[in-house]
Amino acid sequence: MRQNLEVRIDENRGYNIEISDSSFERLNRDIAEFTKGQKRLVIISKKVYKLYFQDLNFDKEELFIMPDGEQEKNYKNYLKIINKAIKLGLSRKDVIIAVGGGVVGDIAGFAASTYMRGIDFIQIPTTLLAAVDSSVGGKTAIDLPEGKNIVGSFYQPKKVFININFLNTLEKRQFLSGMGEILKYSFIENNCGYSSPLYFFEFLTLSYEKIMEKEPITIIRLIEYCLRMKISVVEKDEKEGGLRKVLNFGHTLGHALETITKYKKYTHGEAVAYGMRFVFDWAYNKEYISYSYYRHSIELLEKYGFKPFEKDMYDVDKLINIMKKDKKSDGKNITFIIPNDKKNVAETQLSLSDVERMFVI
Ligand SMILES: NC(=O)c1ccc[n+]([C@@H]2O[C@H](COP(=O)([O-])OP(=O)(O)OC[C@H]3O[C@@H](n4cnc5c(N)ncnc54)[C@H](O)[C@@H]3O)[C@@H](O)[C@H]2O)c1
Repeated sequence: MRQNLEVRIDENRGYNIEISDSSFERLNRDIAEFTKGQKRLVIISKKVYKLYFQDLNFDKEELFIMPDGEQEKNYKNYLKIINKAIKLGLSRKDVIIAVGGGVVGDIAGFAASTYMRGIDFIQIPTTLLAAVDSSVGGKTAIDLPEGKNIVGSFYQPKKVFININFLNTLEKRQFLSGMGEILKYSFIENNCGYSSPLYFFEFLTLSYEKIMEKEPITIIRLIEYCLRMKISVVEKDEKEGGLRKVLNFGHTLGHALETITKYKKYTHGEAVAYGMRFVFDWAYNKEYISYSYYRHSIELLEKYGFKPFEKDMYDVDKLINIMKKDKKSDGKNITFIIPNDKKNVAETQLSLSDVERMFVI
């Protein structure tokens, strides 16, 4: 089964996303066809290399094998990638390919956007999170010790090949991490402005078993729905001037939890899910949402394994300090995306004392 989606950023920029369960031979043919005549630098996750190198038609010389983990999304690896591109003699006409999760996609995209002021870039996501989120939309980044995604760019890929066969080897925890970002789409569906209702909240509730069994048709549809919503947002607001901020639902606290635990305790999707739960509790307490919507949302989060995080485990002042430094905040107020109606969220600026109070409800 194959599903094609198109992203149209403006008159001159657009790309195709292909979601499929086709064989790796087919994927190899498609990549070869798409990169015909180009020199290639392939940034591949070490784990994915070990699992799939024999299935993929890449030459060893064109590979940069990235060690795994968020801590590797750093400037040292970025420079190594640039050096490898120079060593391979890549010119402006050539291409960088990312094969891995969001870590590999983000750093490879950043390298592609800066090498010779920008060369072609292809995303081949191998985690659920990368398939439904990070491989599409053009956000690229590396982390600095001072914070996550501090250095980056908006740089769209030329093509995204999503082959769901990669997901078969994903650990359950990583699969559920992808579900963290996926659940987010069910809470923001109305903001996304997709042309017709997808009933995504209901889809996630009713298809739980098929999703967890990774039934191919259901997984392709799951990815397709998320991407339809993401594309709809990105086409209207590529550089996060306004609407795109809704995609940050759950991320204010989520990023702070990742930072305070030095990226060792939570996966990205888990941190986002805890961030959404935290804000749901607060919004219900403030009577921004009905009890019925609150209860259904919490039930959905819990169905996929996301319980409330234990607030007492962390020093609230430290968490607030991290949120204050977030690039989405202005230092005085902290930006939160909060639910204000069914499947609808809004951006809100909260004072530091308001945020302190969020931790005591
Ligand atoms: N650019 C964006 O718009 C955007 C959006 C969301 C998240 N992100 C970023 O994405 C990153 C998180 O991405 P992630 O969750 O994919 O994490 P990840 O890239 O760290 O991958 C998670 C783990 O899964 C392993 N893995 C990858 N593919 C596998 C496969 N097919 N089988 C078995 N194991 C496999 C990896 O080796 C790694 O250990 C974060 O850095 C986050 O900031 C970016």
